Amino acid sequence: MLEMSLSKEALRVEHLSHHYAETPVLFDVSLTLERGEVLALVGPSGSGKSTLLHLIGALEPPQKGRILWGEVELNLLKPEERARARRQKLGLIFQHHYLLEDLTALENTGLPGLIAGKPDANRAQALLEKVGLGHRTTHLPNALSGGERQRVALARALLLRPPLLLADEPTGSLDQKNAAQVMDLLLELAFEEGAGVMLVTHDERLSARAHRTLNLLDGRLV
Ligand SMILES: Nc1ncnc2c1ncn2[C@@H]1O[C@H](COP(=O)(O)OP(=O)(O)OP(=O)(O)O)[C@@H](O)[C@H]1O
Ligand SMILES: [Mg+2]
Repeated sequence: MLEMSLSKEALRVEHLSHHYAETPVLFDVSLTLERGEVLALVGPSGSGKSTLLHLIGALEPPQKGRILWGEVELNLLKPEERARARRQKLGLIFQHHYLLEDLTALENTGLPGLIAGKPDANRAQALLEKVGLGHRTTHLPNALSGGERQRVALARALLLRPPLLLADEPTGSLDQKNAAQVMDLLLELAFEEGAGVMLVTHDERLSARAHRTLNLLDGRLV
């Protein structure tokens, strides 16, 4: 039921609206994302980009509208089904990445595999090498720089080859060279694994490399 491999679409959003208390934040947002496609979401601070990614990532229930991960409609899933689907089908990289402080970089990266019953230390190691952290695998998060933690969070998000990857400013604290490498990885994941990638970024050098860009302005796609 949760299989998405038959679908060409990684994501479909239909007529999504959202408000916090009295504050409307998103207005009638509709979009689709194909597998293999990297979509950049841009817009001024406060325009609703993170809110949109949170809703798509099922971290908050939508108040109005529909979200489909491939063929799976989020509204129709029971909470435990939604949590499982999110673990298996989604890679999430958010502005505040949550690494576990007691686990090394390698253990943090491999954690989704352990939880899914598919431990793969070799892939975790290879991903850390790809993000330039092959020499930091035994470091705990508090012994990593902000940008290094961000790259561990990326490696962790890629571990299970998610068909849908949501990334909220994944390069916010990286220098240009590392930001470009993260973008390389996102494009590679989309190309090699057929993942749909939705990327929020303020960096025009990155959004220019995406296949398509959407602009959010005051909660509306323009
Ligand atoms: N939990 C909340 N309660 C009330 N208002 C909120 C909440 N979260 C966000 N908002 C408001 O919703 C609006 C959109 O916020 P959001 O975080 O989605 O913006 P953003 O486009 O991601 O901005 P940035 O580029 O600064 O990250 C903002 O005006 C923000 O103040
Ligand atoms: Mg944001």
